[in-house]
Amino acid sequence: MTAARIIRTAAGEAPIACAIILGTGLGPLAEALEDARVIPYGDLPGFPPVGVSGHAGRLVVGTLEGCRVAVLQGRAHTYENGDPRVMKPVIDTLAALAIPRLLVTNAAGSLKPDMLPGSIMAIEDHIALFGPNPLIGQHGDGRFVPMNGAYDPVLRRAIAGGAARRHVALFEGIYVWVTGPSFETPAEIRALRTLGADAVGMSTVPEVILARHAGIAVAGLSLITNLAAGLAPDAPSHAETKTVAAAGAAAMEAVIRGFLVEIGRAEARHD
Ligand code: HPA
Repeated sequence: MTAARIIRTAAGEAPIACAIILGTGLGPLAEALEDARVIPYGDLPGFPPVGVSGHAGRLVVGTLEGCRVAVLQGRAHTYENGDPRVMKPVIDTLAALAIPRLLVTNAAGSLKPDMLPGSIMAIEDHIALFGPNPLIGQHGDGRFVPMNGAYDPVLRRAIAGGAARRHVALFEGIYVWVTGPSFETPAEIRALRTLGADAVGMSTVPEVILARHAGIAVAGLSLITNLAAGLAPDAPSHAETKTVAAAGAAAMEAVIRGFLVEIGRAEARHD
């Protein structure tokens, strides 16, 4: 059976309005779903093993703020085996389930001295020049995916509206993808600032490119866990990423809930 069929069998055929990929430390949001059906990635053919601490590796389908959602609790990263396509079976499954929207979340380092740990940044656009493109090896003209408006303007407005609704301050900015797993040097961070990046991280972008290839509308949120290398006296660490992400998870949850309320309203207007 395909992963999509297994999910439909476990969770029913009702349409899912939005998929949400939860980044480091943000997994607990999945516990908030009503009528939750939980499927471990291990039961879904093609889904990757999740090899990073802070990521659970489960799909939870349920309802949040009245929206039917599929929450991916944990992701695989390119740095695990060098393959940027590691999340392709997941994105293909979202497309097979005809899920129209994907909200990607992550933990990221800040390149702006005033965007402090604990801040939330809506991703306005990304820079993906430092890792292999996940569409390398795809065939047909469909692989030449335009990336203008990759972070859907309508969904960005829904994020801004959702954050305002829940009184959470929101930054907007450019996310630069680096493969990791080593953190950046201070010189690299200075270079990335010159390129126009506001936040840096090791995830998300391959999924966004795959999702755009699949025709899924994308929105992205970064939880800032640290000032990037050279902007703070201490070097970044995964331990700090996990602790600060867990501490900021409540604000992130508030923005996601507000976003889903906005999505629900938009769907109601189109019914
Ligand atoms: N760099 C790259 N990835 C990250 C960082 C960082 O400073 N913080 C959290 N993820």
